[in-house]
Formats: sequence, structure tokens, C-alpha cells
Amino acid sequence: MSTPSFSLVNNANGEKIDLPAVGGTLGPVGLDVGKVYDKAGVFTYDPGFSSTCSTKSAITYIDGDAGVLLYRGYPVAQLAEHCSFIEVAYLILNGELPNAAELEAFDQSIRKHTMINESLKGFFSGFRYDAHPMAMLTGVVGSLSAFYHDTTNNKDPRHREIFAHRMIAKIPTIAAAAYKRHVGQPFMYPQNHLDYCSNLLHMMFAVPAEPYHVNPVAAKALDILFILHADHEQNASTSTVRMAGSTGTNPYAAIAAGIAALWGPSHGGANEAVLNMLDEIGDVKHVQGFMDKVKDKQSGVRLMGFGHRVYKNFDPRATIIREQCHKVLKALNVNDPQLELAMKLEEIALNDDYFKARKLYPNVDFYSGIIYKALGIPVNMFTPMFAIARTVGWVAHWAEMISDPAMRIARPRQVYTGAPERSVSPLAQR
Ligand SMILES: CC(C)(COP(=O)(O)OP(=O)(O)OC[C@H]1O[C@@H](n2cnc3c(N)ncnc32)[C@H](O)[C@@H]1OP(=O)(O)O)[C@@H](O)C(=O)NCCC(=O)NCCS
Repeated sequence: MSTPSFSLVNNANGEKIDLPAVGGTLGPVGLDVGKVYDKAGVFTYDPGFSSTCSTKSAITYIDGDAGVLLYRGYPVAQLAEHCSFIEVAYLILNGELPNAAELEAFDQSIRKHTMINESLKGFFSGFRYDAHPMAMLTGVVGSLSAFYHDTTNNKDPRHREIFAHRMIAKIPTIAAAAYKRHVGQPFMYPQNHLDYCSNLLHMMFAVPAEPYHVNPVAAKALDILFILHADHEQNASTSTVRMAGSTGTNPYAAIAAGIAALWGPSHGGANEAVLNMLDEIGDVKHVQGFMDKVKDKQSGVRLMGFGHRVYKNFDPRATIIREQCHKVLKALNVNDPQLELAMKLEEIALNDDYFKARKLYPNVDFYSGIIYKALGIPVNMFTPMFAIARTVGWVAHWAEMISDPAMRIARPRQVYTGAPERSVSPLAQR
């Protein structure tokens, strides 16, 4: 197929401006509009970036219409079936699945870096007892930049690698410490003989006073959820990490910026919002009334866990999570009326013209909260769970960007709508 060609015509003078097509391996081409301002004196305008590529990337591919999600070319469903989260983390970071020796070395390196500096633990006691764990996560991850001065040369691949391993290894320790601070229990040190998710569950739920055995069903369920959340190309938090990182800032500070962006209910905060919404609805008999409110634009109420900027057919992660949800609840012998409520909401929404016309389908967060709840994870820890998994994607995107010789600081422009230039009158004359 020949490469499509595009141009703009400046109607004022008839000048044609070529927009070179930037092709990738899959998906639509991008139009290079970088010279439009120089040549025509106009900006392109796309708030929310619905049609704008901010970068080229070789990490993750999404086809929103077909419901396709690939990490480094592999369908996410196959990865969830055959691989562990740590294997997938290696893939996302390095571009290829590891062989047994590579996986062993990577796994050992992550296990080696799980502890946090003892003085970092002191940061947690500075937070009020009722601080949201995401507030603690944002602050403490940013504070990592005050500790690791041995790997601050972003241009050195080994420094970048050590940063990546430290960040992936320490984020569960920090999230678990935030939880312990929240519930007023002593922090638990990581146990490096445990796998990634078992270690996290141990740090969250064990107490020093007695032994705690991690349920392997819970660890496996978490591992699958983490694979599904590991990356999602240029979403709001990943774009934030890239934007902050493009200034050359300390990478831990860039990850903290991503965590802040993830917190919002339109992004990672949606899993928490889904459970709060199910709580508010309370009973299947209130579902129809709630749906009427959702469809009434004046109410400002949205069906949380539904809709996605990119997926306009189905979210492939939601299909896997829905199935997992049923499996996990059965294996753990949990009978959760909220699952019944969620299924009823889903059924009504999928058959409703409002949702059909707008191509709104359940997203990854619709069922993930119900699984987290079955694992005993409290609602305000749902978004930190997402942050742990997404750290892999953030770190990989940061490293991809920093190692690109063509990287420039991200600096969008604007259409100015304020007052035209005017003169200042001295205070006495105003
Ligand atoms: C994810 C989300 C932010 C995507 O937003 P977006 O791509 O900007 O889509 P828009 O907000 O422009 O929505 C398009 C239309 O669908 C409606 N819509 C979108 N999501 C909706 C939802 N969850 N409930 C009800 N209506 C919704 C909008 O009101 C709008 O209707 P209109 O065309 O009549 O004005 C949005 O779907 C949402 O808020 N979902 C709930 C939060 C959530 O689950 N987020 C997690 C994402 S993984």
C-alpha cells in the first residue's frame, strides 16, 4: 500500500503545506504538523488530544475499535494466561520475553531492591492518620529523588536500568507502608523469598505478632490484575511522566507526577469510584433509578467503570477481569452482593440505547474493585494497586523517551482567550 500524503492549503495565499505521514508498524499514520506554525503561522488545536500523537513508541499497541491490546506485540490475554507479572515487566522494559536465565536474573534484581531506606519510613509518620494512601504514595515516591544519588545520570543506560529495578521493587513496599500507616499497624519488611504479589500481600496483611500465610489464589489473582494494568500507551498518567521527564527532571519525581495524575476518578481512581457507586446504589431494586440519573445530563452522574477514550467496542482487559472476578470469588468462597449488582448494571447498560449510541462499554475498572474487595484490599488502596502495576509502564516509557536522541522538552502551545494587551494604570487611578 502506498504511503498516504496530506497537505493543508492556506486559503489566504493558496500556499500548500505538506504534512508528512509518520508511519508505524500497526495503526493509523500520524501527520507531522510540526512545521505548520513556521509555515502558516497557525497552531493545531486538539484539547484532550483525541487526534494527537505525542510521540512514537514501540511498547504498547491499542486498537480501540477492535478491542486489541498488545504489549511489545503480544496480546494481553496470552500474556495473562502464560506469564507472570515479573515476566511481563521484563518484556515491557526490554522489548522481548525473557529466557529462563534472564528471568531469574531480573527477578533476583527486583527482589534485592525491595527495601526502602530506613529514614524514608519516617516520612509516613508526617502524614495525618486519615491521609489517603495515594497522597502518601505521591509524596513518598517523589521523596525517593532525595535518596538515590548514585544513579542520576539519565543518559547512562545502567543508571536507567538500576532506577527501573528500584522503582518497580520499592513501589509495593511504599504502598504497603501507606496502608499500614492508614490502619495504624507496624510496617512489615519485605520478605524476598516471596514472589512479587505474595510479598505485597504479606507486607499489607501480616503483623509482627503472628505468622501470616499468603493465599496463593489471592496472589495469582493480583498477578493477573497487575499484568492487565501494566501499560496502556499514552494515557494521562504515562503522558504526565513523559512530560515531566522531558525536562530532564529526576525520574522518581517524574513517576510521582504520574501517580498524581493516576489518582483522579476519570483515570485510576475509577476503580475506587465504582465500589463507592455500588455502595450508593445499595440494592438491585435501585439500579433503574440510578440509570435514569446517569442518563440525565443535568445530574452530572456517570456510570463509573464504563466508557473509555480509546476503546469504543470493548475493553479486552474487562473481558478477562470479568471472568477472573467470577473465578476468584468462587475460589475464595466469597458471596458478594455487589457482584450481582455490578452484573445487573452491566446488563442494563449494554442493552440501553444511551450507552449503545455512545459506544460505552465496561472498562478495566468495572470489575477490578470487586476482585480487590474479595482479596481483603480496602477501597482506598485500589488506586495504589493500579499504581504498583502501572509503574512498569511509566518506567518503560520514561526510559524509551530519555534514550531517544530526538527527545525535546514537551511544550504545547495554546489559543489565547484573555484580554488584549493593555496599559497598567497606577493604583490611585483604578
Ligand atoms: C473514561 C472517560 C473519562 C472517557 O471520556 P471521553 O473519551 O472524554 O468521553 P466523553 O466524556 O466525551 O463522553 C462521550 C459521551 O458519552 C457520555 N459518557 C461517557 N462516559 C460515560 C459514563 N461513564 N456514564 C455516562 N455517560 C458517559 C458523555 O456524557 C458523552 O455524552 P454526550 O456525547 O451526550 O455529551 C469517560 O467515559 C468516563 O468518565 N468514564 C467513567 C470513569 C471511568 O470509568 N474511568 C476509567 C477509565 S479506564
